[in-house]
Amino acid sequence: MASIQAQITDIFSSAFQKCGFAYSFGIVKESQRPDLGQFQCNGALAVAKSAKKNPRDIAQNILNIVGDDPTFSNLSIEGPGFINISLSDQYIADHCNSIKNDSRLGCKKIDKSQKVIIDFSSPNIAKPMHVGHLRSTFLGDSFQRLFNFLGYNVISDNHIGDWGTPIGMLITELKRRCPDLIYFDEKEADSYPEKPPITISELEEMYPHANKRCTEDESAMEEAIKATESLQRGRKGYIALWQHFVNLSVTALKMDYNELNISFDYWLGESFYEDRMKTLTEKLKNNGNAIISDGALIMPIMEKSDQEEIPPLMLVKSGGGFLYSTSDLATIDYRVEKFNPDKILYVVDQRQHLHFSQVFRAAKKSGIARSDLFMKHIGFGTINGPDGKPFKTRAGGVMKLNDLIALVTKKAEERMKEANIAQDLSKDEQKDITKKVCIAALKYADLMNHRMSDYIFDIDKFCRFEGKTGPYLLYSAVRIKSILRKANEQNIPEGDILPPTKSTRTLMLVLSQLPDVLYNASEVFYPNYICDFAFNLAQEFNRFYNECHILSEGKESLQSSWLSLCKICLREFELVLSLLGIEIPDRM
Ligand code: ARG
Repeated sequence: MASIQAQITDIFSSAFQKCGFAYSFGIVKESQRPDLGQFQCNGALAVAKSAKKNPRDIAQNILNIVGDDPTFSNLSIEGPGFINISLSDQYIADHCNSIKNDSRLGCKKIDKSQKVIIDFSSPNIAKPMHVGHLRSTFLGDSFQRLFNFLGYNVISDNHIGDWGTPIGMLITELKRRCPDLIYFDEKEADSYPEKPPITISELEEMYPHANKRCTEDESAMEEAIKATESLQRGRKGYIALWQHFVNLSVTALKMDYNELNISFDYWLGESFYEDRMKTLTEKLKNNGNAIISDGALIMPIMEKSDQEEIPPLMLVKSGGGFLYSTSDLATIDYRVEKFNPDKILYVVDQRQHLHFSQVFRAAKKSGIARSDLFMKHIGFGTINGPDGKPFKTRAGGVMKLNDLIALVTKKAEERMKEANIAQDLSKDEQKDITKKVCIAALKYADLMNHRMSDYIFDIDKFCRFEGKTGPYLLYSAVRIKSILRKANEQNIPEGDILPPTKSTRTLMLVLSQLPDVLYNASEVFYPNYICDFAFNLAQEFNRFYNECHILSEGKESLQSSWLSLCKICLREFELVLSLLGIEIPDRM
């Protein structure tokens, strides 16, 4: 089933074609001036220039063709040649009835399934996942859900940082603290203890110290780099220690993801590509794609058309170590071989943009990736504190995710008390609702922003039950659930949707926008389109709810029609919120 916009675009495009113009001039958009019409078509203006004709005349010719179509209730020409379009109420009702009868609410799957790999979240082990990784996690998960729904074959991969210098820093820090541990013996043992020598809190506590020491003291940094190199060369004690670090971190991370209701198909961290980095860099050297420069192996990637300098990609340091870029190139090599994807999406902080454009170029230039493999860096802005600087704890450190969730949960609880929400329910149910409110507040506050903009982390605002917030959306959706429950108790049946009136027309038009919203969001990777839609839906539903008293309406056919509208609203809410990773409680 095509969306309303697609259907009327088709009608107008055919009319343009009949007049001898290109089909594409018939694009119809939502109106900027709802007082004049629900939709508008600006094609006559666009075509007039090249056709050397008066745009109003062209618009009139188009109207002469489409004018009798029962789809429309009103068509008019405005100003220099804009066409304003309003739909007939019968057409709107028919469309809503077909949405009602469609299990996918009018959203078609893509024609030919495509395989898309989504690389997201990807924190570095040893460091706890903090708010900086939150955006990648929320955005990436929303893409994973959206693309799945649209019929893509989605593979999600948490490309954790588990192999670089930070690991060397941790090894040397631990050695400084407990030099007698067996892992540091020069003479390698046959086996090492199964029990980790430290706890996850000790590990998390160690990293900031190690990092500080290495930034302040050059020799400490050198030592950390040496330890990293020994690890990468396979020193047994270090490998055993590294495995402990990975296990501890991954266990803690999985708990965080579990809280957020997020999962991955794969967890192939940087370490997974160690062997491939060796063979790949050798191959690139031998076939001339990479060259030695000052002892390092680099790959020049400048192209003639470049306006500015694009630095070569460094693959092997003069000391022999691999880099972040080496592992990303090897990762592409592996992904192509193992999955043969159509698309690879990287949901990573915008500050890594140059890195990705270099890696993509290198992958295509060397033939690691086919020229038509779609690889895209999906960047995003930062989360700031009230001072406009990247969000930190009061003490100035990075906020750990579970502390953050605890903070938001507490605020959600306060807000629920204030608004007298869920107060009469059992403690267990209250707890479950609070959790859902907390997740809705966090995810919606993040995803509603244009992903390239920075935003201010304001827990107070995120947790409100009014305004453009997750809790407000949940509240609206729960309200529908409650109406449907009461209607069910009173044996009120759902029925055909009747042609709209003033109180339902906008709501019905909003309901019909869903397929376009999802498709557009997937084209430009903007989940904020979905967030805007959800908010619009809530606003329009609440207006309808205030004007139409469903449960007490005396006219049966009208009552059943309204109930059906409620049901579609709920189904659309459930779908779009689930695409944002948000769950709706049954009651509040
Ligand atoms: N671990 C990196 C970081 O925290 C992000 C990795 C993103 N994915 C990738 N394939 N480079 O900055």
